[in-house]
Amino acid sequence: MIQTRGITKRYGKLVALNDLTLDIGPGEVFGFIGPNGAGKTTAMKILACLMKPDAGSASVCGLDITKEPDQIRRMIGYMPDFLGVYDDLTVDEYLQFFAAAFDIPRRERPKIIGQVLELTDLTEKQHALVDGLSRGMQQRLGVARVLVHDPKVLFLDEPASGLDPRARIEMRSLLTELGRMGKSLMVSSHILTELAEMCTSIGIIERGKLLYAGSIDEALAKTKAARGEGDRIRVTLEESSVSAGDLAAALAGEPRFARVAPDGRALVIDLAAGAHGHHFVIEALLTRGAKIAAFEPQEVKLEDAFLKLTTGALQ
Ligand SMILES: Nc1ncnc2c1ncn2[C@@H]1O[C@H](COP(=O)(O)OP(=O)(O)OP(=O)(O)O)[C@@H](O)[C@H]1O
Ligand SMILES: [Mg+2]
Repeated sequence: MIQTRGITKRYGKLVALNDLTLDIGPGEVFGFIGPNGAGKTTAMKILACLMKPDAGSASVCGLDITKEPDQIRRMIGYMPDFLGVYDDLTVDEYLQFFAAAFDIPRRERPKIIGQVLELTDLTEKQHALVDGLSRGMQQRLGVARVLVHDPKVLFLDEPASGLDPRARIEMRSLLTELGRMGKSLMVSSHILTELAEMCTSIGIIERGKLLYAGSIDEALAKTKAARGEGDRIRVTLEESSVSAGDLAAALAGEPRFARVAPDGRALVIDLAAGAHGHHFVIEALLTRGAKIAAFEPQEVKLEDAFLKLTTGALQ
């Protein structure tokens, strides 16, 4: 649905986008992550046909951005990183305005507006003033506004910025729902963790260069591999169990266990790189008299993955 090949954009001497190549499929929610000034907005504006690249080519919905921009504009929604609130407009008037801008016939507007309000959970606010909405609601209204013409592809620039955890969860379920409806989404943020749960894939960009594109799981796996480590598991023991200290001593020297450290009534187990599965850990513990209260494989921290990825360690 979105395809770029070697897109480059300069502002004077500054190279804002450097040879960007990307593929985003139908129903994909692609998180476009990078620090301030990385080139996210520039890339999204080019794909939304609001700006031309200096070099390279791109297509959206199978149409070339330089040859068929008018057709593309009708098939996409672009939400800029500012809402551009209009004073004294109600939510309904605001959406009527955008529906009119997209040439939606007057008689169809109430039904469509009702649908996008329901989807963005703003039905109750239909007659409230836009100015008086909370930040989370305004951001959802920003999404509602780019949905009125039922676009296939959405470019959302920083939709989760400045939201509290609850508003973020609401935004996440909205974006997930849009993906489920088969729309392709490109969503930017400068915080990986803000987007991680809502994306099917991510791209990390820094100073105009794409450093990584792929799934989050793959990023985490690569991070683990780059550290030369296996999984970490935290095992909590019942009170009546053989002690953590005794188990640690008993397991020392086992080849698939890189490190076993007691931590009160728990054991922190680092598996050797390349040791697959966890069944052998449970067996090893049980045969040595462990009574397991909890068995918790520890996740690699997303922040770690982000740092590794942005420092180019995985290039
Ligand atoms: N109109 C412009 N004229 C000159 N330089 C620009 C212009 N727009 C952007 N830039 C520069 O291009 C680079 C990329 O900017 P861009 O806005 O695409 O980054 P971004 O990743 O969206 O950043 P942010 O997280 O701050 O929104 C930055 O160095 C920025 O200063
Ligand atoms: Mg930006």
